[in-house]
Amino acid sequence: MKVRINGKVFDVPKGLKFAEISHELEKSGIEFGCTDGQCGVCKARVLKGLECLNEPSEEEEETLWRVGAVDEEERLTCQLIIEDESCDEIVIEAED
Ligand code: FES
Repeated sequence: MKVRINGKVFDVPKGLKFAEISHELEKSGIEFGCTDGQCGVCKARVLKGLECLNEPSEEEEETLWRVGAVDEEERLTCQLIIEDESCDEIVIEAED
């Protein structure tokens, strides 16, 4: 499925955790650290297609809270998984 991160398009299969392809996704300029939902550096805003992604785990929510995320559109990119392919695309922007 088409995932646009900072304007760069990737083809990400359903069911794959984004952490598994973090080296590829880094080409969008998004930063990854732990790739395990702990450090929070991969925090980004999902502008489109949030409904097609997994719900955040308790661990992700804790990390998001710790790094000051307040909106449900704010997610840890490494923890995302596409669960539903009915969205046209997923659009994600890194925040500074
Ligand atoms: S890379 Fe550390 S939380 Fe995503």
